[in-house]
Amino acid sequence: MKLFIDTGDIEEVRRAAEWGILDGGTTNPTLIAKAGKGFKETVLQICEAVPGGAISAEVVATEYELLLKEALEIASWHPQIVVKVPLIEPGIRLVRTLSDKGIRTNVTLVFSVTQALMAAKAGATYISNFVGRGDDMSADGMDAVADTVARVENYQFESEVLVASIRHPLHVVQSIQAGAPVATMPYKILEMMFKRPLTALGLTRFL
Ligand code: G3P
Repeated sequence: MKLFIDTGDIEEVRRAAEWGILDGGTTNPTLIAKAGKGFKETVLQICEAVPGGAISAEVVATEYELLLKEALEIASWHPQIVVKVPLIEPGIRLVRTLSDKGIRTNVTLVFSVTQALMAAKAGATYISNFVGRGDDMSADGMDAVADTVARVENYQFESEVLVASIRHPLHVVQSIQAGAPVATMPYKILEMMFKRPLTALGLTRFL
């Protein structure tokens, strides 16, 4: 399973990248705003911090022509960039256009198998299926993810399901059990994955 970091904070990306296990990064407009640095500058720094990694940068327009202009601009910044596109009608049209041009895409805000089907048919590289926000609505977010992973595989689409909106390590365990090819998570969750009381206790005894 590929591990991505979900952040707009370059220091977090650098720290996680040092472990040598990071395959990429995802950002969204909220995370970029929270980090308080410029969009282009942040995305380029993340690309440098994770050499060869897939780095998702999100478009914010909502009309097709504006989306296309924005997407082409973002994609021109760096070869590692994956254009992140919301699952709206012009967004799916955009994904088809970008996919025909060989530009990688990450379709975001996906919550159902039917939405995932549209993203896969449009040629999305990644389908960002949100877990935590589904749970927030009293739905079983992980159930939807597992279903999507199974269906995408079943029809042999090339898109990879990327589990997003991960809120705790159990979501990571469930993503692994569902056979999700990619998961993105905040730095604090990556860090929590190291921690086990018996590991700490064992180390104390060894030392
Ligand atoms: O990048 C999208 C996603 O991972 C956001 O997570 O916790 O805001 O639902 P969250």
